[in-house]
Amino acid sequence: MSAPIGDDVDRAAAVLRAGGLVAMPTETVYGLAADADNPAAVARIFAAKGRPADHPLIVHVADGPGAHGWTAAMPPSAARLAELCWPGPLTVVVPRAARVIDAVTGGRATVGLRVPAHPLAAALLTRFGGGLAAPSANRFGAVSPTTAEHVAGDLGLAVDYILAGGACPVGVESTIVDCTVTPAQILRSGAITDEQVRLILDGAVAPASGASRAPGMLASHYAPRAGVVLATSPDEARHLALAHGPDAMVVGDLGNLARYARLLYTWLRAADDRGASTIVALLPPAEGLGHALRDRLVKAAAASA
Ligand code: TXA
Ligand code: MG
Repeated sequence: MSAPIGDDVDRAAAVLRAGGLVAMPTETVYGLAADADNPAAVARIFAAKGRPADHPLIVHVADGPGAHGWTAAMPPSAARLAELCWPGPLTVVVPRAARVIDAVTGGRATVGLRVPAHPLAAALLTRFGGGLAAPSANRFGAVSPTTAEHVAGDLGLAVDYILAGGACPVGVESTIVDCTVTPAQILRSGAITDEQVRLILDGAVAPASGASRAPGMLASHYAPRAGVVLATSPDEARHLALAHGPDAMVVGDLGNLARYARLLYTWLRAADDRGASTIVALLPPAEGLGHALRDRLVKAAAASA
């Protein structure tokens, strides 16, 4: 059984106002949204995902001015990033406003804010009028969903309405920058690349470090059921696939990283659906969108090691 699926923004907004859960398409991945001001609704997100309660949620808002009600003070680095990247695949971590409920932040003094660019997410946020707390709409520990069908398969009746907006055009989760520290620190790489963040902040940025500071970004995230091994060239991938036997599958497109990112989670899910024993994933160089892909792939490989 799956929740009702459609593109009815009014219905989605009504579900949210009643304290329900809506899966919404964003340009990155599908989010599992609830009214960020409603503790009972936010609690349902954690139950639906099977997510530990101390993992904070990103609050999505309709536009830059709408973000101000959620932060005690927008640090200059956050204001600059927001100005240039919103709407878009960027989340800034900033000091929380007093109104932000503990269920959203896991009791932290900070909150993650994002203005998504997907037209349906924008329409829903405008219609709803408030902030939407939304993690990726997958079960905890699984790869993020990039189609409405992924969401339906993962969450079934745990979500009240799935707002269907096709396949997500970016395909990997937003770049997260912690703007409460100096210099700002990239907590998660995404389609706003590390290089772009550095440029926008005039070099005043620390890269994502090995032991990430974003709670919930465990090394063992983004894991399909099949084992994941990494190859740095198509040649090496072929050899590894042969070594792992007939049920191994090669994924990746080093010639087109935007396509790679868009399809990565679909490929990982397809490998699991086909019962692949091993996924051999091509590892792109550490530049541009390659940072985000490497982050997700290394975590997927660590989880299956
Ligand atoms: O692209 C995205 O960011 C998607 C779409 C739906 O917007 N959302 C998403 O949410 O990926 P989620 O919950 O799956 O990942 C958000 C990450 C988590 O690792 C969480 O720990 C971190 O952001 N995070 C959220 N608020 C934070 C905060 N105040 N401080 C540090 N990390 C935070
Ligand atoms: Mg997630």
